[in-house]
Amino acid sequence: MLVTAAVLCVLSALPAFSQLSGSVGPTTSRASKQKTTCNVLSYGGSVGSSDIGPAILSAFNNCVLKNTGSTLYIPPGSYNMATWVTLKGASNWALQIDGVITRTATTGGHMIIVQNANDFEMWSSTGDGAIQGHGYQCRNTGPRLLRIITSTNFALHDLIFVDSPAFHVIIDKSSNGEIYNLAIRGADIGGSDGIDISGNNIWVHDVMVTNRDECVTVKNPSQNYKIERIWCNQSGGSAIGSLGAGTAIENIYYQNIYTVGGSQMFMIKANGGDGYVRNVVLDNFIGLGTAYGLNIDEFWSLAAKASGVGVQLSNITFSNWDGYITDGKRRSAYNILCSDTAPCTDVTLRDVNIWASNNVGKYACESAYGAGACLKSGTGSGYSQVTQTYPKPAAYTAPPTMSGNLDSGFATNSAIPIP
Ligand SMILES: *[C@@H]1O[C@H](CO)[C@@H](O)[C@H](O)[C@H]1NC(C)=O
Ligand SMILES: *[C@@H]1O[C@H](CO)[C@@H](O)[C@H](O)[C@H]1NC(C)=O
Repeated sequence: MLVTAAVLCVLSALPAFSQLSGSVGPTTSRASKQKTTCNVLSYGGSVGSSDIGPAILSAFNNCVLKNTGSTLYIPPGSYNMATWVTLKGASNWALQIDGVITRTATTGGHMIIVQNANDFEMWSSTGDGAIQGHGYQCRNTGPRLLRIITSTNFALHDLIFVDSPAFHVIIDKSSNGEIYNLAIRGADIGGSDGIDISGNNIWVHDVMVTNRDECVTVKNPSQNYKIERIWCNQSGGSAIGSLGAGTAIENIYYQNIYTVGGSQMFMIKANGGDGYVRNVVLDNFIGLGTAYGLNIDEFWSLAAKASGVGVQLSNITFSNWDGYITDGKRRSAYNILCSDTAPCTDVTLRDVNIWASNNVGKYACESAYGAGACLKSGTGSGYSQVTQTYPKPAAYTAPPTMSGNLDSGFATNSAIPIP
């Protein structure tokens, strides 16, 4: 993943720009969490065990909760897991997974929930710690892999999440988080979300995702995110949404996003609903052979229609994009469809150059105001969809390929190897 970072950094042109509202990550040092080691092998666990869940829970309840400044340690080795755990209410602690945990039960929910943690680090010291979901055995009837709920001052890093039966990683209404150096490998199927985030003041960087649904996606409510150096390596692509009633999303900054295959270079998706998405910057995007390119769709029929006048989108800037979609005849590379009763305003496209494999360029705009493509200038009321063709953008260049780009996703009916 360091290679990923280095290559994508070269593409970055704008000066550093942050949408974070303060510092992120644990508030005290790693050493301060190593005063007590709560090793699962001392709490009833064993390498090769058929269910490491009870030992994780016991180490948490009997050791982490009783010793401020502790690390719940899962040493190298293979463990099966059939009992899901909720690790709730600890402060100044770490969850260090250096082993490989493999799901065996098909109970729903989440294999690991971390809740109300403060000053928390979840990581692998070797970079080899992994959770293997073997989702091919129980597609959409098993657990999600990890959910971090209402936690604050935390980091999640250097871990591998493979083939979840459902979503992989969910950050739920948490704040001051840093999420980095993650490899997520799901199957080529919907419902396999990589990272879904809601909360405040979150920095996500250096992550690669393979799946066929959300790559790194912003959910409601969200504020003050910086998301950068993301490799959607055969993935559904990143998004904001889907959005419904009471949407409150602002100050979101994505930078250096590289998307190979998949549904879109980026999407904002809603169907009805209300509230707002504002102050969003989507800078330095590269796309190779996605189905959609720049895609705002407030009529997104895959989500049930929510009541409300529509989510108001304003001050959304797309800059420095280079990419091609697969079929410009079938889909508009620039698709900016806003609510007719809450038109988008201040949508700006600057140096956005998208083309299509079959050399057909189309714009589609509806109820959208701003500058670039088919956007109407100024502000005004809703208008019906306008579609027009455009020639190959003069500044378009074939986007760079990177070694390691996948030509297709992982099979849904056989085991996915841990990278
Ligand atoms: C638009 O959003 C950008 C990025 O968040 C922000 O810097 C700028 O102040 C916003 N402009 C307005 C008029 O709110
Ligand atoms: C693309 O994803 C695949 C599957 O996770 C991985 O094997 C490959 O290393 C990735 N490419 C790079 C350069 O990371």
